[in-house]
Amino acid sequence: MMDQSDSKTFGVIGAGIMGCGIAQIAAQAGMQVVLGDLDGAALEKAHANIAKLIRRLAEKGRISAADAEAAIARISTVQLDKAPGYAAFAPCNVVVEAVVERMDVKHSVLVSLEGEVSDDCIIATNTSSLSVTEFASAARLPERVAGYHFFNPVPLMKLVEVVAGVLTSPKTADRLVDIARDLGHMPVRATDTPGFLVNHAGRAFGPEGLRILTEGIADHADIDRVMTEAAGFRMGPFELFDLIGLDISHAVMESIYHQYHEEPRYRPAALVAPRRAAGLLGRKTGRGFYVYADGVKQVPAENPIPDLKDTGRPVWISSRHADLAATLKEYLATRGCEFDDAATPGPNSLIFLTPLGEDTTTAALAEGVDPKRAVAVDCLLPLERRLTLMHSPATDPDFLASACGILGGHGTAVTTIADSPGFIAQRVLAMIVNIGCDIAQQKIATPGDIDLAVERGLGYPEGPLKLGDRIGPARILEILDGLYAFYRDPRYRPSPWLIRRARLGLSLHHTGP
Ligand code: NAI
Repeated sequence: MMDQSDSKTFGVIGAGIMGCGIAQIAAQAGMQVVLGDLDGAALEKAHANIAKLIRRLAEKGRISAADAEAAIARISTVQLDKAPGYAAFAPCNVVVEAVVERMDVKHSVLVSLEGEVSDDCIIATNTSSLSVTEFASAARLPERVAGYHFFNPVPLMKLVEVVAGVLTSPKTADRLVDIARDLGHMPVRATDTPGFLVNHAGRAFGPEGLRILTEGIADHADIDRVMTEAAGFRMGPFELFDLIGLDISHAVMESIYHQYHEEPRYRPAALVAPRRAAGLLGRKTGRGFYVYADGVKQVPAENPIPDLKDTGRPVWISSRHADLAATLKEYLATRGCEFDDAATPGPNSLIFLTPLGEDTTTAALAEGVDPKRAVAVDCLLPLERRLTLMHSPATDPDFLASACGILGGHGTAVTTIADSPGFIAQRVLAMIVNIGCDIAQQKIATPGDIDLAVERGLGYPEGPLKLGDRIGPARILEILDGLYAFYRDPRYRPSPWLIRRARLGLSLHHTGP
């Protein structure tokens, strides 16, 4: 919290969802707030809403009634086409614009504002998709202009990206970092690049889910089940698409992909546009990837696990990844499995493979085992809650059913998928790590800020570099190498940041001299 000598007047232009949230936290942090908009009715509604939200905090006992009233009293509003207009921002130390996402409108706001504020007032934009540098290009003093990207709802999402344009001065960014802390928010710094930090780091989860769906490897509900139950995400990619709305997700996916000149890592999927055109936008239209009946998500039933505990077939486990094989063997031992421990599988044995970044076909052929009897199990993640079982086109359905019966039940669910280098979780997680690594490689943000932004901004269980360190950089590299070798698609090429740290045995947080 500030002391008296550091008292700040905080300007906000645009009294929509974001402008209101920013004005609210500034007033609650003890700052004088000037909130401006062209639309007088919107401004009145905004002020009433902010007052209601602040008073609700007092009702819940989170702040005192006196503090609530004082915070509300600190907010003044100004209709910009009436006197005093932009002159009302003259006392401000910082002004954040949160008007519509159009560069021409933002430029006109910037020019009007610069005519009234002092030369040391910071001017920031809350844009989420436009270039901060291009915004600043209309300024007389572009060094005092930066991005200040808050997330919706602002009072709850306590993260803000401080985005430095090409000409933004270090002092401007430093001051915005300090002000963010005064506001009770966690600042992360990013350079002015498409998607900044959070929206850039989010290019793996949804798009890789779509790629898996497009290829017919698994359906949307199975992909969501694996990513939540096995990989620990709060929501699967398709639940998230439905929550955000496919119209918005599609625009973000397309925009970042094209702004990065068709970078294959961010390539979206062709199945999205027709779904969007059909109005399958998600919760808000009652149907997206899921159907919502009275707002309740309808989840398609899973295939039952065959009741085949005793198949009479011994189990042979590949030892190519010795630790993964040991994990699987330990798990199967608790189910009273009979093992075939010979160097090569016996004629009647069920063959379990535990590949990293390879599909069943590739792993079975590399191992020289009979593909008809081979199934693959994803042993990268803990096996107890949900297992992913994968088969090749040659796998005998009877052997697949045996594998499913042996692995499932007793509280463990099994998702059976078609052949995929990296199953579901391995490839989605490896892509998250890889994109996080490349953000570090491009010096868009520091490793610590990348992790913080992803945990706070995207709600993932851990940031990409932490995730990569926990799984092991060498393992992530192996998964990506497998994907790259199979698809020959530069989408899966590992980031230089990852390759070097994996080869040198270093942490992904290691920045070097
Ligand atoms: P909104 O549509 O809720 O509000 C925009 C406000 O700007 C309206 O009240 C409108 O009357 C006002 N406005 C339009 N032209 C104006 C002008 N020339 N001068 C003054 N006021 C003007 O928009 P929202 O969602 O609050 O977004 C605002 C900005 O924040 C956009 O740049 C958006 O990309 C960004 N943003 C939005 C997020 C979201 O989840 N909605 C998240 C992060 C950033």
